[in-house]
Amino acid sequence: MKDLISLHDITTEELHNLLKLGLKLKDEQKKGIQHHLLKGKTLGMIFTKSSTRTRVSFEVGMTQLGGYPLFLSSNDIQLGRGETIHDTAKVLERYLDGIMIRTYAHSDVIELAEEADIPVINALTDLLHPCQVLADLMTTYEHKGKLEGLKFAYIGDGNNMAHSIMYGCAKAGLDCAIATPEGYKCDEEVVENAKSDFKASGRELILTTDPVEAIKNADVVYTDTWVSMGQEAEKAERQRIFMPYQVNKEIFKHAADDAVFMHCLPAYRGYEVTEDVIDGPQSVIFDEAENRLHAQKAVMATLMG
Ligand code: CP
Ligand code: NVA
Repeated sequence: MKDLISLHDITTEELHNLLKLGLKLKDEQKKGIQHHLLKGKTLGMIFTKSSTRTRVSFEVGMTQLGGYPLFLSSNDIQLGRGETIHDTAKVLERYLDGIMIRTYAHSDVIELAEEADIPVINALTDLLHPCQVLADLMTTYEHKGKLEGLKFAYIGDGNNMAHSIMYGCAKAGLDCAIATPEGYKCDEEVVENAKSDFKASGRELILTTDPVEAIKNADVVYTDTWVSMGQEAEKAERQRIFMPYQVNKEIFKHAADDAVFMHCLPAYRGYEVTEDVIDGPQSVIFDEAENRLHAQKAVMATLMG
């Protein structure tokens, strides 16, 4: 494993090792045990989109591992003024021990990883958000005591979260149901890849336009914003089209009695989820947010250690 670009690229064993290490680092951190696995190392963090959780959890995680996080806003580096990804990769690999990047085009991250000799971590593209799903699987494990055989339901936009959830569930052995409106389905290539991963794991993938079908008996219920970064111009139209896909108390009744509610955040209450669900007793959103830190420390320690 040189990079973490997509959960489709890693094996079930690699995924389990990351989750195990994340849980161990979390436990040690809580006990005050220091683990300076990246002492003297520097992570460059390129952002061309906003972030709260990703930026803070990577910076804090790198610090807890004894290394140094270097925030690189695309507004400030020459990449934002048209320097090529190739030249950026070739320069940064001379200084850094790893690169984390959040950007629009997924192909840019693939190119960066191909060109740079150092590890590259995908911290969200328009296509995928693998670090979030590592944290979500870790959170699922903590709340359910297992992953294998659970049902994970995602309701909403067929976006980066839906894609990474499919990949993550297939690799971790969960059944997965995705409900999206007509016209907002998941990327076809990702669906094809996911189908082959589900075939290999022997678990079920349901793709539907019916949110009730997706949520039925689910152990985990997940949603995300209807308006991802870069889609702001479509906001009003999306809010109208997605309303029947809102996760509210009514639809939540179809999930398993002990289902947990998850959201990658930031959330928009009254749109993709109602307050009574996201702020209710079955919501584990802040555990997910915390686990970004621990899961990503496992990724950095594995790739850069
Ligand atoms: N969930 C997530 O990636 O949050 P940020 O956009 O705040 O980083
Ligand atoms: N789908 C959202 C996720 C934010 C963490 C976006 O891409 O904006």
